[in-house]
Amino acid sequence: ELTPPFTMKNNFSLNILPWVLIICLSADALQQQEALAHPLFTKSRWIVNKDGKRVKLACVNWPSHLQPVLAEGLSWQPVDVISNKIRSMGFNCVRLTWPLALVNNQTISSMTVENSFKSLGLHKSLVGIRANNGKFLSMTLPQAFKNVVSSLGNNNVMVILDNHITTPGWCCSLKDGNGYFGDKDFDPKLWIQGLSRMATMFKGTRNVVGMSLRNELRGKNVNVGLWYK
Ligand SMILES: *[C@@H]1O[C@H](CO)[C@@H](O)[C@H](O)[C@H]1NC(C)=O
Repeated sequence: ELTPPFTMKNNFSLNILPWVLIICLSADALQQQEALAHPLFTKSRWIVNKDGKRVKLACVNWPSHLQPVLAEGLSWQPVDVISNKIRSMGFNCVRLTWPLALVNNQTISSMTVENSFKSLGLHKSLVGIRANNGKFLSMTLPQAFKNVVSSLGNNNVMVILDNHITTPGWCCSLKDGNGYFGDKDFDPKLWIQGLSRMATMFKGTRNVVGMSLRNELRGKNVNVGLWYK
């Protein structure tokens, strides 16, 4: 037997349920609109969508330029859980970092995620990836990168491809040979080649809205003074 208070409470919940649903759906529809309004354009100093409405990027950094060349954290949570979490925290964009080697070094661009982690002796992380993102293990590193981008797209998150460094690893120091055009590991020709390959790879991927061309120009060869002549 239901006691009267329980019944009342139950009726109340049932009555507000449609409203809760409608409110959730409208918020969702707004987010969808934002994401579907690509490509983006510039209008004077503003970024606007195809309807001329301003789009404000709220990006979080997600590193994928370290030694394994896989977006960090995939040994801890399924990629869609992370993408969804990013969106639900109020971000609409990820600055996804990558090293030139991802597309310029044949050994790296043909390596599977599993072999990348094995070659670095990261066995504990491999166990985590198997548990949380098993499908990634057999993907090549570029395939895995693309998969992270589509997971973000499926969760209405835009992506800025950020060329962070040439060789996978921590960035940056003043003496790492990655700081400025012509430094040991910063050949402008290979840099353009890498950017072109990434641009080609993501041509037509609607949630990729931009590229940041290189992280933190620095070092003894910097010549900012000349830029403003
Ligand atoms: C390409 O990557 C492999 C694996 O990390 C490395 O041993 C090799 O030196 C790299 N090649 C070039 C030209 O940087």
